[in-house]
Amino acid sequence: MEMYLCLLLLCGVVHGLNNGLARTPPMGFLSWERFRCNLDCKNDPENCVSEHLYKSIADVIVAEGYRDLGYEYVNIDDCWPAKTRDAAGRLQPDPNRFPSGMHNLSQYMHARGLKLGIYEDFGKRTCAGYPGSEFFLRTDANTFAEWEIDLLKFDGCNSDPKDMDIGYPLMEFFLNQTGRPFLFSCSWPAYIVGTLKKVPNYTAIKEHCNIWRNYDDIQDSWDSALKIIDYYGENKGNFAGVAGPGGFNDPDELLVGDFGLSYDQQKVQFGMWAMMASPLFISTDLRKIKPEFKAILQNKRVIAINQDPLGAQATQLYKASTIQVWLKPLAVNGTLAVAILNTDNQGEPAKITLNPKQIGALSPNGVNITETFDNIYVGAFKPTETFTLSINPTGIFLATVVPLA
Ligand code: GLA
Repeated sequence: MEMYLCLLLLCGVVHGLNNGLARTPPMGFLSWERFRCNLDCKNDPENCVSEHLYKSIADVIVAEGYRDLGYEYVNIDDCWPAKTRDAAGRLQPDPNRFPSGMHNLSQYMHARGLKLGIYEDFGKRTCAGYPGSEFFLRTDANTFAEWEIDLLKFDGCNSDPKDMDIGYPLMEFFLNQTGRPFLFSCSWPAYIVGTLKKVPNYTAIKEHCNIWRNYDDIQDSWDSALKIIDYYGENKGNFAGVAGPGGFNDPDELLVGDFGLSYDQQKVQFGMWAMMASPLFISTDLRKIKPEFKAILQNKRVIAINQDPLGAQATQLYKASTIQVWLKPLAVNGTLAVAILNTDNQGEPAKITLNPKQIGALSPNGVNITETFDNIYVGAFKPTETFTLSINPTGIFLATVVPLA
C-alpha cells in the first residue's frame, strides 16, 4: 500500500490526469436510466442488458447520424458481469448475455468509429450486487485494458467513502499504468456529498477524473431533472468553477426520448445540460425514439454550446420566483450562451420583458440575440433596451448573445 501511495504521489505531480481525453464534454449513450438491470433476455430480448442491446443501439447511433454529431461512447452500466470472478480472479461478463465477450464488443464499437465504456465499483460489490473492484483494482484495470475498453464509470456502492480520496486516485494510477487512455468517470464526489455530507475537494477530483457525478441519480421525471438543475444552481463548493477541458461535472444521463418529460421539459433538460457543459449521455431506446425527440438530441446549435472549446460551465445569474437566468461564456470573445428557464407549471406561457443588462450581457454597444433551438433571430438591443419573450410552462429560452462592435 505504501509503495502505491508513493507512486501515486509521484504520478500526481508528474502527470495529473493527463490522458488527453474529455477536452469537451463526452457524448454518447449510457444504458442505466432507461434499461436499468433488466436481466430477462428470455422474455425481453430486445431490452435486457446484453451485447445485443449495445450492438443494436450502436448500429442506430451510426446509421441515424448520432455518431457524426459527436455521440461516440456506448457505455455499459451495472449488471454486465457474471456473479463470480474466474479462477484467476478476473472479472468475466455474464456468459449468457455477453456470449461473444467484451473484447469482441469493443472491437464491434471500434470498427464503427465508436468507443466502449464499462461500469465497475470501488467497493465489495456494485450497486446492483455484482462483484466489485475492492482488492482487485489493478487486476480490473488490466482486464479492461485487455478488452480495449475506452471509458470506466467507477461507482462507489458498498465501500467506505472515507477511502475514496485514496482509492479513486489509485484506480486512476492503475488505469494509467496500462498505457491505454481511459476516460475516467468517477462517482467519488457523489458519495462525499451524499454519504459523508461534506463538500468535495473538486480540485483534487479534477486531477484524477475526467467526469464526475456529484449528486443523486436521475429518474425519469421533471422533479428529478429540476432537483439536479437546482443543485447546479446552488453550486455548493463552486464545482462549476473547476469544469473545463479535461474535466467536467456530470449531472447524470439525458431523459430525452423517455417517458417522464414533456416536449418542453426535454428541451429544458437538453438545453441546460448543454449550458452546464455536462456529458451528453443519451439513455433512451434510440431504436424507437420519436422524431421530435430525436431532433432535440440532434440539434447542432445546442450541441455546439455544449461542445464549446472553452468548456465553461454555466452558472445561475439569478432566480426570481419561477424564472431563472443562466450564463455560459463561449470561446469567441465576449459571446455568451444564455438560458432563461420558466419553472412555472401552470397553464400559460410566461411573458417576460428584459434588457441585455438583466441577462448579464454588459457590452456597451448592445448585443445580437439569436434563439438557439429554432435558430430565430430575436434582434439587436442596446444595453437597456427591452425585448419580450414568451416561455412555455416548464420551458426554456436558449440563446446566443453576441456583442455588437
Ligand atoms: C448507482 C449509480 C447509477 C447506476 C447504478 C447501477 O446508483 O449512481 O448511475 O450506475 O448505481 O447500479
